[in-house]
Amino acid sequence: MNTGTVVKPQPGATAVERFVNRLLRPVGRLVLAFPRRQVIPPEIPDSGVYGIPDDLPRLYQPWFSPENASLLRPEVKANTLLSPEKLYSLRQMARTSIGVPGDIFEAGAGSGGSTRVILDVLQEAGSTKRIWSLDTFEGYQKIDPAKDGAHVQLAGCRCASLADVTRLLSTPNQQVVLIPGLIPGTLSQVKAQAISFAHIDVNLHEPTLASTEFVLDRLSPWGIVVFDDYAWPATYGARTAIDQACRSRGLNVTVVAHTGQAFLINSPRSAR
Ligand SMILES: C[S@@+](CC[C@H](N)C(=O)[O-])C[C@H]1O[C@@H](n2cnc3c(N)ncnc32)[C@H](O)[C@@H]1O
Repeated sequence: MNTGTVVKPQPGATAVERFVNRLLRPVGRLVLAFPRRQVIPPEIPDSGVYGIPDDLPRLYQPWFSPENASLLRPEVKANTLLSPEKLYSLRQMARTSIGVPGDIFEAGAGSGGSTRVILDVLQEAGSTKRIWSLDTFEGYQKIDPAKDGAHVQLAGCRCASLADVTRLLSTPNQQVVLIPGLIPGTLSQVKAQAISFAHIDVNLHEPTLASTEFVLDRLSPWGIVVFDDYAWPATYGARTAIDQACRSRGLNVTVVAHTGQAFLINSPRSAR
Protein backbone atom coordinates (compact mmCIF):
# COMPACT_ATOMS: atom_id res chain seq x y z
CA MET A 1 0.00 0.00 0.00
CA ASN A 2 0.91 3.58 -0.41
CA THR A 3 2.03 5.78 2.37
CA GLY A 4 3.81 9.07 2.69
CA THR A 5 3.00 11.80 0.25
CA VAL A 6 0.15 10.00 -1.44
CA VAL A 7 -3.21 9.55 0.22
CA LYS A 8 -5.19 6.60 -0.97
CA PRO A 9 -7.64 5.71 -2.37
CA GLN A 10 -8.07 9.25 -3.67
CA PRO A 11 -4.55 10.69 -3.82
CA GLY A 12 -4.43 14.27 -2.69
CA ALA A 13 -8.13 14.49 -1.83
CA THR A 14 -9.14 16.79 0.97
CA ALA A 15 -11.07 15.41 3.93
CA VAL A 16 -14.29 16.83 2.48
CA GLU A 17 -13.63 15.26 -0.92
CA ARG A 18 -12.89 11.92 0.69
CA PHE A 19 -16.13 12.16 2.68
CA VAL A 20 -18.12 12.93 -0.50
CA ASN A 21 -16.46 10.06 -2.30
CA ARG A 22 -17.37 7.68 0.49
CA LEU A 23 -21.00 8.77 0.38
CA LEU A 24 -21.22 8.46 -3.39
CA ARG A 25 -19.37 5.20 -3.87
CA PRO A 26 -22.25 2.85 -3.08
CA VAL A 27 -24.31 4.39 -5.89
CA GLY A 28 -21.52 3.99 -8.35
CA ARG A 29 -20.24 7.54 -8.62
CA LEU A 30 -16.84 8.67 -7.58
CA VAL A 31 -15.70 12.27 -7.54
CA LEU A 32 -12.00 11.83 -7.69
CA ALA A 33 -10.01 14.79 -6.48
CA PHE A 34 -6.96 15.93 -8.41
CA PRO A 35 -3.85 14.51 -6.81
CA ARG A 36 -2.45 17.81 -5.72
CA ARG A 37 0.12 16.30 -3.40
CA GLN A 38 1.00 13.37 -5.64
CA VAL A 39 4.64 13.48 -6.55
CA ILE A 40 6.27 11.40 -9.26
CA PRO A 41 9.78 10.83 -7.93
CA PRO A 42 12.51 11.83 -10.41
CA GLU A 43 13.99 8.34 -10.09
CA ILE A 44 11.09 6.95 -12.10
CA PRO A 45 12.39 6.73 -15.64
CA ASP A 46 9.00 6.84 -17.36
CA SER A 47 7.29 9.41 -15.16
CA GLY A 48 5.53 10.87 -18.21
CA VAL A 49 3.17 7.91 -18.34
CA TYR A 50 1.85 8.31 -14.79
CA GLY A 51 -1.62 9.74 -15.16
CA ILE A 52 -3.57 12.26 -13.17
CA PRO A 53 -6.92 10.63 -12.65
CA ASP A 54 -9.63 13.27 -12.87
CA ASP A 55 -12.67 11.05 -12.97
CA LEU A 56 -13.66 7.47 -13.38
CA PRO A 57 -16.01 6.17 -15.99
CA ARG A 58 -19.21 4.71 -14.63
CA LEU A 59 -18.18 1.15 -15.07
CA TYR A 60 -19.53 -1.94 -13.44
CA GLN A 61 -18.09 -2.06 -9.90
CA PRO A 62 -18.78 -5.58 -8.68
CA TRP A 63 -16.93 -5.04 -5.40
CA PHE A 64 -19.98 -3.09 -4.21
CA SER A 65 -22.53 -5.71 -5.22
CA PRO A 66 -24.35 -7.69 -2.51
CA GLU A 67 -22.76 -10.95 -3.61
CA ASN A 68 -19.38 -9.48 -2.74
CA ALA A 69 -20.46 -8.09 0.61
CA SER A 70 -18.04 -10.42 2.39
CA LEU A 71 -15.19 -8.25 1.09
CA LEU A 72 -16.56 -5.30 3.00
CA ARG A 73 -17.49 -7.07 6.23
CA PRO A 74 -16.07 -5.41 9.36
CA GLU A 75 -13.63 -8.24 10.02
CA VAL A 76 -11.91 -7.48 6.70
CA LYS A 77 -12.53 -3.76 6.40
CA ALA A 78 -11.14 -2.96 9.83
CA ASN A 79 -8.00 -4.97 9.18
CA THR A 80 -6.82 -3.92 5.76
CA LEU A 81 -5.39 -0.91 3.99
CA LEU A 82 -6.64 -2.29 0.68
CA SER A 83 -9.57 -0.61 -1.07
CA PRO A 84 -12.62 -2.71 -2.02
CA GLU A 85 -11.40 -2.74 -5.65
CA LYS A 86 -8.02 -4.10 -4.60
CA LEU A 87 -9.58 -6.73 -2.35
CA TYR A 88 -11.80 -7.77 -5.24
CA SER A 89 -8.94 -8.27 -7.71
CA LEU A 90 -6.89 -10.02 -5.05
CA ARG A 91 -9.72 -12.43 -4.30
CA GLN A 92 -10.53 -13.08 -7.97
CA MET A 93 -6.91 -13.88 -8.74
CA ALA A 94 -6.70 -16.16 -5.69
CA ARG A 95 -9.84 -17.94 -6.87
CA THR A 96 -8.43 -18.32 -10.37
CA SER A 97 -5.29 -19.98 -9.04
CA ILE A 98 -7.07 -22.38 -6.69
CA GLY A 99 -6.49 -25.46 -8.86
CA VAL A 100 -2.78 -24.80 -9.26
CA PRO A 101 -0.59 -27.02 -7.06
CA GLY A 102 1.40 -25.30 -4.30
CA ASP A 103 1.13 -23.20 -1.18
CA ILE A 104 0.16 -19.56 -0.84
CA PHE A 105 2.68 -16.85 0.05
CA GLU A 106 2.10 -13.34 1.29
CA ALA A 107 4.69 -10.67 2.06
CA GLY A 108 3.06 -7.90 4.09
CA ALA A 109 0.21 -9.35 6.17
CA GLY A 110 -0.31 -5.96 7.82
CA SER A 111 -3.33 -6.31 10.09
CA GLY A 112 -4.33 -9.50 8.30
CA GLY A 113 -7.24 -8.25 6.16
CA SER A 114 -5.74 -9.29 2.83
CA THR A 115 -4.75 -12.65 4.31
CA ARG A 116 -8.30 -13.09 5.60
CA VAL A 117 -9.66 -12.61 2.06
CA ILE A 118 -7.27 -15.24 0.68
CA LEU A 119 -8.26 -17.56 3.53
CA ASP A 120 -11.94 -17.09 2.60
CA VAL A 121 -11.10 -18.33 -0.90
CA LEU A 122 -9.54 -21.50 0.52
CA GLN A 123 -12.51 -22.08 2.78
CA GLU A 124 -15.08 -21.64 0.01
CA ALA A 125 -13.11 -24.04 -2.20
CA GLY A 126 -12.59 -26.58 0.61
CA SER A 127 -8.85 -26.29 0.05
CA THR A 128 -6.31 -26.99 2.77
CA LYS A 129 -3.40 -25.23 1.10
CA ARG A 130 -1.05 -23.60 3.57
CA ILE A 131 -0.71 -19.82 3.68
CA TRP A 132 2.69 -18.46 4.63
CA SER A 133 2.31 -14.81 5.58
CA LEU A 134 5.21 -12.62 6.60
CA ASP A 135 5.50 -9.22 8.25
CA THR A 136 7.55 -7.46 10.88
CA PHE A 137 4.20 -6.81 12.62
CA GLU A 138 5.94 -3.61 13.71
CA GLY A 139 5.84 -1.58 10.51
CA TYR A 140 8.90 -0.55 8.52
CA GLN A 141 12.05 -1.56 10.36
CA LYS A 142 14.57 -0.92 7.60
CA ILE A 143 14.42 1.60 4.78
CA ASP A 144 16.85 2.34 1.98
CA PRO A 145 16.31 6.04 1.19
CA ALA A 146 18.28 5.69 -2.04
CA LYS A 147 15.80 3.12 -3.35
CA ASP A 148 12.61 3.93 -1.47
CA GLY A 149 12.68 7.74 -1.45
CA ALA A 150 12.21 10.16 1.40
CA HIS A 151 8.48 9.70 1.91
CA VAL A 152 8.71 6.47 3.96
CA GLN A 153 9.60 6.65 7.64
CA LEU A 154 10.96 4.03 10.01
CA ALA A 155 8.10 2.37 11.98
CA GLY A 156 5.66 3.75 9.38
CA CYS A 157 2.84 1.56 8.11
CA ARG A 158 2.47 -0.04 11.51
CA CYS A 159 -0.46 -2.42 11.55
CA ALA A 160 -1.92 -4.80 14.15
CA SER A 161 0.15 -6.94 16.49
CA LEU A 162 1.10 -10.53 15.74
CA ALA A 163 -1.30 -11.67 18.49
CA ASP A 164 -4.24 -9.78 16.94
CA VAL A 165 -3.47 -11.05 13.44
CA THR A 166 -3.17 -14.61 14.78
CA ARG A 167 -6.65 -14.24 16.32
CA LEU A 168 -8.12 -12.85 13.10
CA LEU A 169 -6.77 -15.73 11.02
CA SER A 170 -7.23 -18.71 13.30
CA THR A 171 -9.69 -20.93 11.45
CA PRO A 172 -10.42 -24.61 12.03
CA ASN A 173 -8.84 -26.93 9.48
CA GLN A 174 -6.81 -24.17 7.86
CA GLN A 175 -3.13 -23.63 8.23
CA VAL A 176 -1.91 -20.05 8.25
CA VAL A 177 1.75 -19.74 9.20
CA LEU A 178 2.56 -16.21 10.33
CA ILE A 179 6.27 -15.43 10.25
CA PRO A 180 7.27 -12.29 12.15
CA GLY A 181 10.52 -10.48 11.38
CA LEU A 182 12.37 -8.70 8.67
CA ILE A 183 12.29 -9.94 5.07
CA PRO A 184 14.63 -11.13 3.52
CA GLY A 185 15.92 -12.77 6.74
CA THR A 186 12.66 -14.61 7.41
CA LEU A 187 12.18 -16.09 3.93
CA SER A 188 14.18 -19.20 4.89
CA GLN A 189 11.36 -20.11 7.31
CA VAL A 190 8.93 -20.54 4.44
CA LYS A 191 8.94 -24.27 3.75
CA ALA A 192 6.95 -24.24 0.55
CA GLN A 193 8.17 -26.52 -2.24
CA ALA A 194 5.92 -24.80 -4.75
CA ILE A 195 3.81 -21.65 -4.70
CA SER A 196 0.48 -21.36 -6.50
CA PHE A 197 -0.48 -17.85 -5.48
CA ALA A 198 1.37 -14.93 -3.93
CA HIS A 199 0.46 -11.48 -2.71
CA ILE A 200 3.35 -9.07 -2.33
CA ASP A 201 2.56 -5.93 -0.35
CA VAL A 202 5.61 -4.69 1.55
CA ASN A 203 5.98 -1.33 -0.23
CA LEU A 204 9.76 -1.16 0.04
CA HIS A 205 12.45 -2.12 -2.46
CA GLU A 206 14.56 -4.68 -0.61
CA PRO A 207 11.79 -6.90 0.83
CA THR A 208 9.84 -6.66 -2.44
CA LEU A 209 12.85 -7.75 -4.46
CA ALA A 210 13.69 -10.64 -2.13
CA SER A 211 10.06 -11.79 -1.87
CA THR A 212 9.49 -11.58 -5.62
CA GLU A 213 12.65 -13.55 -6.38
CA PHE A 214 11.72 -16.11 -3.72
CA VAL A 215 8.25 -16.54 -5.21
CA LEU A 216 9.33 -16.60 -8.86
CA ASP A 217 11.86 -19.33 -8.10
CA ARG A 218 9.02 -21.51 -6.73
CA LEU A 219 5.98 -20.41 -8.73
CA SER A 220 4.10 -23.34 -10.22
CA PRO A 221 3.12 -23.26 -13.89
CA TRP A 222 -0.04 -21.11 -14.13
CA GLY A 223 0.65 -19.76 -10.64
CA ILE A 224 -0.33 -16.12 -10.10
CA VAL A 225 1.33 -13.23 -8.25
CA VAL A 226 -0.50 -10.06 -7.25
CA PHE A 227 1.71 -7.05 -6.53
CA ASP A 228 -0.18 -4.53 -4.46
CA ASP A 229 1.64 -1.28 -5.11
CA TYR A 230 3.10 -1.52 -8.55
CA ALA A 231 1.75 1.67 -10.08
CA TRP A 232 1.67 4.00 -7.07
CA PRO A 233 4.36 6.68 -7.34
CA ALA A 234 5.05 6.73 -3.60
CA THR A 235 6.03 3.07 -3.67
CA TYR A 236 8.15 3.22 -6.80
CA GLY A 237 10.88 1.28 -4.95
CA ALA A 238 8.57 -1.72 -5.02
CA ARG A 239 8.01 -1.31 -8.74
CA THR A 240 11.72 -1.14 -9.54
CA ALA A 241 12.21 -4.32 -7.50
CA ILE A 242 9.40 -6.15 -9.28
CA ASP A 243 10.67 -5.04 -12.69
CA GLN A 244 14.20 -6.19 -11.82
CA ALA A 245 13.08 -9.64 -10.66
CA CYS A 246 10.62 -10.19 -13.53
CA ARG A 247 12.80 -8.90 -16.36
CA SER A 248 15.71 -11.11 -15.38
CA ARG A 249 13.35 -14.09 -15.75
CA GLY A 250 11.66 -12.92 -18.95
CA LEU A 251 8.34 -12.40 -17.17
CA ASN A 252 5.82 -9.60 -17.68
CA VAL A 253 3.38 -8.01 -15.29
CA THR A 254 0.04 -6.48 -16.21
CA VAL A 255 -1.06 -3.35 -14.39
CA VAL A 256 -4.60 -3.35 -13.04
CA ALA A 257 -6.09 -0.04 -14.17
CA HIS A 258 -7.16 2.24 -11.34
CA THR A 259 -6.14 0.01 -8.40
CA GLY A 260 -2.45 0.29 -9.20
CA GLN A 261 -1.91 -3.39 -8.51
CA ALA A 262 -0.15 -5.56 -11.07
CA PHE A 263 -0.43 -9.27 -11.64
CA LEU A 264 1.67 -11.92 -13.26
CA ILE A 265 0.62 -15.33 -14.54
CA ASN A 266 3.32 -17.94 -14.86
CA SER A 267 2.15 -19.27 -18.18
CA PRO A 268 4.42 -21.89 -19.69
CA ARG A 269 6.88 -20.29 -22.11
CA SER A 270 5.15 -21.90 -25.09
CA ALA A 271 1.88 -20.14 -24.18
CA ARG A 272 3.32 -16.62 -23.79
C1 LIG B 1 0.79 -1.92 3.30
S1 LIG B 1 1.16 -2.92 4.63
C2 LIG B 1 0.38 -4.45 4.28
C3 LIG B 1 -1.10 -4.29 4.17
C4 LIG B 1 -1.92 -5.54 4.23
N1 LIG B 1 -1.64 -6.46 3.15
C5 LIG B 1 -3.37 -5.19 4.32
O1 LIG B 1 -4.23 -6.00 3.94
O2 LIG B 1 -3.67 -4.09 4.79
C6 LIG B 1 2.87 -3.22 4.35
C7 LIG B 1 3.45 -4.10 5.39
O3 LIG B 1 4.78 -4.42 5.01
C8 LIG B 1 5.49 -4.68 6.19
N2 LIG B 1 6.92 -4.63 5.90
C9 LIG B 1 7.63 -3.63 5.32
N3 LIG B 1 8.93 -3.97 5.21
C10 LIG B 1 9.02 -5.25 5.69
C11 LIG B 1 10.11 -6.17 5.81
N4 LIG B 1 11.37 -5.87 5.42
N5 LIG B 1 9.85 -7.38 6.34
C12 LIG B 1 8.62 -7.72 6.74
N6 LIG B 1 7.54 -6.89 6.65
C13 LIG B 1 7.75 -5.67 6.13
C14 LIG B 1 5.01 -3.59 7.15
O4 LIG B 1 5.22 -3.95 8.50
C15 LIG B 1 3.54 -3.48 6.78
O5 LIG B 1 2.71 -4.20 7.65
